[in-house]
Amino acid sequence: MICLGIESTAHTFGVGIITSEGKILANARDCYHSVEGMIPNEVKAHHELVKEHVLADALQKAQLTMNDIDLIAFSHGPGLAPCLHVGKNFAENLSKEHNKPLLGVNHCVAHLTIGNLTTGLQDPIYLYVSGVNTQLLVAAHGRFRVLGETLDIGLGNALDKFGRKAGLGFPAGPKMEQQASTGAYVELPYAVKGMDVSFAGIITAAERKIGKIPLPDLCFSLQETCFAMLAEVAERALAHTRKKELLLIGGVAANKRLIQMLAAMSKERVATFAAVPLEYAGDQGVMIAWQGVLEYSHGRRTTPDIHPYERTDEIDTNWINASSTSSSLASSPQEPPDKKAQKSARSPCK
Ligand code: ATP
Ligand code: FE2
Repeated sequence: MICLGIESTAHTFGVGIITSEGKILANARDCYHSVEGMIPNEVKAHHELVKEHVLADALQKAQLTMNDIDLIAFSHGPGLAPCLHVGKNFAENLSKEHNKPLLGVNHCVAHLTIGNLTTGLQDPIYLYVSGVNTQLLVAAHGRFRVLGETLDIGLGNALDKFGRKAGLGFPAGPKMEQQASTGAYVELPYAVKGMDVSFAGIITAAERKIGKIPLPDLCFSLQETCFAMLAEVAERALAHTRKKELLLIGGVAANKRLIQMLAAMSKERVATFAAVPLEYAGDQGVMIAWQGVLEYSHGRRTTPDIHPYERTDEIDTNWINASSTSSSLASSPQEPPDKKAQKSARSPCK
């Protein structure tokens, strides 16, 4: 089976093509950039403008025509409603015109499963760090369960918010990574609450220092502080579940410093760490196509609709082998808690 996946939830319009064996045939996309951030109707207009071209590009890269496609999948949410409509309508029209089955899938779940496919990790703790989301998850009892998450904004959006104020444009994450390479540490608030994290106060504190402290120092310190928080909760999640794999996914997984810190922590815990390859870290159509394959081949059928607020833990994960995940959360209560994980690692890594 060959599946074509359409992504349109936010800044990216993407079309990816994959086989049911997981062979990636094409990954075409066009991203919206701006100075101010995302203005929904402008992003929608961007997607309308580029959609045909992105589709043609994907088909051409895969050396296929629509006749070769067996299934069309699209991101039905979560995301910006005007953008979701562009993807849904485009997918629906293609499905009708070429008489192909159509399946809507969850964008966030697709971020997780493309991580499994591209790294080979089977049953990891997932650290999903993107624009909107910052979550620790594990597959257990037929769902992805949220072990911890941001109490306010996702880290990507937090960095973008700071970057906008600092004049770095949107998206700011990659530019902040560049700036940070020559920066030095200044203290910022550090906010871990059990398994949850909070970024809003840290960003406000950093914004107040714009113009008073060199920008590279602020970028460096924001990265060190926020990434140390993520390493702390990820370590605690590994300890409590006794999992031996950590998988970093989402757009912020492009950041080399975050990868370095999580790799060092995992090594100390003798856990296997992998980050989704850069090409599949941010939004793209391949992850939607792969999620389409997983769900369609396990019997899921839907009527096309958009779900702007659908959460990751609402989706049944019947494609995951129950035996490999059923013990995820059940095994630890009788075991002694891991002391190391309960100790707070408050000082940012340097
Ligand atoms: P979600 O998946 O939660 O719906 P999204 O789709 O908007 O959110 P992604 O495309 O997965 O998010 O990620 C985009 C985010 O990744 C942006 O906020 C961007 O600034 C951030 N980002 C991209 N590259 C880097 C980098 N090198 N360092 C830090 N952040 C980065
Ligand atoms: Fe995303």
